[in-house]
Parts: sequence; C-alpha cells; structure tokens
Amino acid sequence: MLEKIDELLVEVVDFNTSDKEKIEQFRIRFNGKKGILNDFFEKFKDVPNEQKKEFGQKINALKQAVNLKLDELKNADSSSISSEKGDLTKPGFPLELGSRHPINLVKNKIIDIFKSIGFAVADGPEIEDDLHNFTALNLPEYHPARDMQDTFYIETNPDILLRTHTSSVQIRYMENHQPPIRILAPGRVFRNEAISSRSHCIFHQIEGLYIDENVSFADLKQSIQFFTTELFGKSKIRMRPSYFPFTEPSAEVDVYWGLNSETDYKITKGTGWLEIMGCGMIDPAVLQNVNIDAEKYSGYAFGMGIERIVMLLYQMGDIRMFFENDVRMLEQFKTV
Ligand code: PHE
Repeated sequence: MLEKIDELLVEVVDFNTSDKEKIEQFRIRFNGKKGILNDFFEKFKDVPNEQKKEFGQKINALKQAVNLKLDELKNADSSSISSEKGDLTKPGFPLELGSRHPINLVKNKIIDIFKSIGFAVADGPEIEDDLHNFTALNLPEYHPARDMQDTFYIETNPDILLRTHTSSVQIRYMENHQPPIRILAPGRVFRNEAISSRSHCIFHQIEGLYIDENVSFADLKQSIQFFTTELFGKSKIRMRPSYFPFTEPSAEVDVYWGLNSETDYKITKGTGWLEIMGCGMIDPAVLQNVNIDAEKYSGYAFGMGIERIVMLLYQMGDIRMFFENDVRMLEQFKTV
C-alpha cells in the first residue's frame, strides 16, 4: 500500500492541465467523499501499529500534494503568470522536514545525563565584562593564564569582551544564589584563534558546577564517570594533574576509548586514551569573590567543548563543518 501511495504522489506532482473539467475530475478522484484520500484514511485503522507512523506521514504528504496541485492549477487558470510549469517561485515538493544541528543533539544528550543527577541549566550573556569572564575567576589582569584564552575586545572599552568560556555563567549564578548549587552552563564561546580543521574562533562549551557542604574530589570523579558511561558507554577514566586558575587541584579527564579498530589507533595516537574535559575543585578564592562561605562550602566544576565530543561520537574530522551548515552534512543527523 505504501508503494501505491508513492506512485500516486508522483502522479499528482506530474499532473498538469488547464482544462477545468479535468481539474474537477482530479479533485473528485482524490478529494471526493469516496475519493482516494478518504479511502486511505479509512484503511488507516487496519494498518499494523508499527507501520502506522510511516503510513500516516505518507497519506498526509499525498493530501498536501493534492491540495497544492489544486491551488496551483486553479491559480494558473486565473493569473497571468500561468504557464505550463506553474508558479516557479513556489516551494519545491516534497516539503522536507528539517533536523536538529549535531551540536544541539549532543548538547541535549549531555544535559539529559546531568539532569538525571539533579543539575539544572543556567544561561548568561555572550558579550561579557572582564569581571565575570576573568577577574572573579581568579584571573586578574596581567595573570599569565589569560594568554590561554585570548578573545575579542571592543576597542573603545576593553572591559567589554566576547566570553571565552561559560565559566562566566557560573560566576553570575553564584552571585545570585547560595548553595546547594548544581548547574550546567551550555553555550557559545569565542577565542582569538586561527581557524583550522581542529580549532575555530567560535565553538560551544558545556560547563558544570556543584557546590554544597562536604563536596569532595571523589564526588567529582564519580559524577564524571557516570557521565562517560552514559554518553560513550565507557566507564574507564583517568585524571591527570593540570592547571586552571579557578580550580585547585585541577585535572584533565581522559576516557579509555580502547584500541579495537584502526580509527581508535588514529584518534588516540596509539594510546587508547582520549582527553575529553577539564575539571577541578573550586578554588576557595573564587567562592570568596562571590560571597560564598569557603569554610562551610566546597564544590567542583568541569568544562568541555561540545564540538570535540560530537567529532568523537560521529567520527568527524573537521570542526569547520559545524559552521558551514551544508545540508548534505546536516541531513545525516535526521535519524539520530
Ligand atoms: N573554563 C575552562 C576552559 O574553558 C574549563 C574548565 C571548567 C576547567 C571548569 C575546569 C573547571 O578551558
């Protein structure tokens, strides 16, 4: 029956005449009380459940095509742009459904995982001031670590800049809330970096922040392990000492990807390990900057680049693809 609908769809799309009689016959044949469409809608209840969705979509597409065609033929009849081909400025058929961008797909997956353990989503501006992006995060002016995150400034007011990470959202949230705090900060960030297959001046991050009494490094580790297990199906992780001005101690997280295929060797450089995020225990100086009692509370934070995670999950080799919006790339994510 599905094939029959496809055949009818082609017939409808190809149908063309200026003969009023024939248009009326076409209308009755498809749209009449005993017409083809009603007949299909009646048969719908007998379609097996697992085929209902596809069947429903197809008859609706057919219905849409019939109505479009009737409009087109009737208008052609009365307007001066009537031509054999109809109105060339009308949208093409079939009308395609769009799909989510891979960055949003993966962002939503990450949010769902952390939501299941109590995290909420927080938001903040992309155009930031120096205080929220740097100074309050223990990165005062002239701190050498600012070199790691050069950005775009406004010439007339160097206090205004494009945020380099979504840690700025965490500062804003802490300014207005007392612990317990459990938030995720997803969003677009900017860095003054050359564009290549591996780096881009615009990308997306998702950062997390957890503050309460007695939060320890063990809490951080097990939350991240939960996350890698849920997202990649991989629970083996390791934490390497690292440095961020706003966390102490700080670590990079590697997940054990395995060495089961040639690609695994390539992306892990033969080690089996892949770096996926930075993290650490919030430096008490940061808590003091936002008036949270550092004697009473402690917390952890983590941050990752979403593009990197998408590239790992779907074996994509070039970060620039995310920003070109080529439909041939995007439509591959329709079924994800
Ligand atoms: N803000 C850091 C960055 O953008 C990532 C990070 C977040 C590291 C939280 C540690 C803790 O590089």
